[in-house]
Amino acid sequence: MKIETIAIHAGNKIDGNTGAAIQPITLSSTFERGEDGGYPGGFIYSRADNPNRKSLENVVAKLEGAKDAAAFSSGNAAGAAIFQALGPNSHVIAPDDMYHGLRNQLIQVFEGIIEVSFIDLSNINAIKNAIKPNTRLIWVETPSNPLLKISDLKAITKLAKANKIMVACDNTFSSPIFQRPLDLGCDLVMHSSTKYFGGHSDVIGGVLASKKIDDFWKKVRNVQVLSGAVPSPFDCYLTVRGIKTLPYRMRGHAYNAGLVAEFLESHKEVEKVFYPGLKNHPGHEIAKSQMSAFGGMLSFLVKGGAIEARKVANSVKVFTQATSLGGVESLIEHRASIEGPETKTPQNLIRISVGLENYEDLIQDLNQALG
Ligand SMILES: Cc1ncc(COP(=O)(O)O)c(C=O)c1O
Repeated sequence: MKIETIAIHAGNKIDGNTGAAIQPITLSSTFERGEDGGYPGGFIYSRADNPNRKSLENVVAKLEGAKDAAAFSSGNAAGAAIFQALGPNSHVIAPDDMYHGLRNQLIQVFEGIIEVSFIDLSNINAIKNAIKPNTRLIWVETPSNPLLKISDLKAITKLAKANKIMVACDNTFSSPIFQRPLDLGCDLVMHSSTKYFGGHSDVIGGVLASKKIDDFWKKVRNVQVLSGAVPSPFDCYLTVRGIKTLPYRMRGHAYNAGLVAEFLESHKEVEKVFYPGLKNHPGHEIAKSQMSAFGGMLSFLVKGGAIEARKVANSVKVFTQATSLGGVESLIEHRASIEGPETKTPQNLIRISVGLENYEDLIQDLNQALG
């Protein structure tokens, strides 16, 4: 089946009792046991599994070409499950431009438990040099947040395999519609389903997908069920509902973002645009080889510093000034101020999540905000 068909059907189960064409939300926390002690419905207790979560996990596994998927209550909880499953004294190679929430998790929550090296993952030699005897995982984020750096997934997974290291890819920015990391050699994929999967900025969630059902994946499942950072049935329902339109929304996001990137590149108040679809982006050729389109996220440097950049974010009328991404509405933010005082993100950087409004309105809005 093709991806649009999977997105619509793989997360739905027609209700056997009522014939409801759309799977109902099963709110029950517990499920009736049979006289023989078994569970005739296949479910025991909702932390362990739930019909709506099962449907969400099924559709994500199919979209990513995975053997299995596990849903969590946030993207950060999904990331944490991998780091917890690694066990103490593991070394992780992570991107120097990593989503700051997960970077802070590794530094603060896993302090003294996991050793981390933050490396420029667009430089394969730098990765090679960072490998240690206890390196268990390379965590890739491509395109990265917020600099839209591109990492070569085939080259990284080849190096990792030769050194018996797992590779996990945060695929939030691309979604499986534009990039399928497992096909390129990765072992695990992670999503903040808060973003494009949900698609409407009204649900927080995360999902992991795995190429194999091996001992490591069983540990991840154990963390999911026993630590219990699971999404509610309603959150699963909303995410499955969002995924049905994911392929079409992604095309709209990428189309609009390409036009906005070209506009920004030609604007006299813009110093630089970071969008992998632009020919002058250093990762453009690699992005072209591993992505089918370049996504809806971009960032740019405003001429000047933090004051000039904040002025742009404060002056928009169609964009909403807010963090997050992947919703139908366009968002804009001065990234350094959300990342906090430790940030390495340039002070004049603006990140935008290009939504599905008409691109002419978005360009006009940015044009008036840039002055
Ligand atoms: C690339 C990326 N990964 C992970 C996350 C974390 O996801 P969540 O906010 O759902 O915990 C985010 C959130 O912004 C993100 O942008």
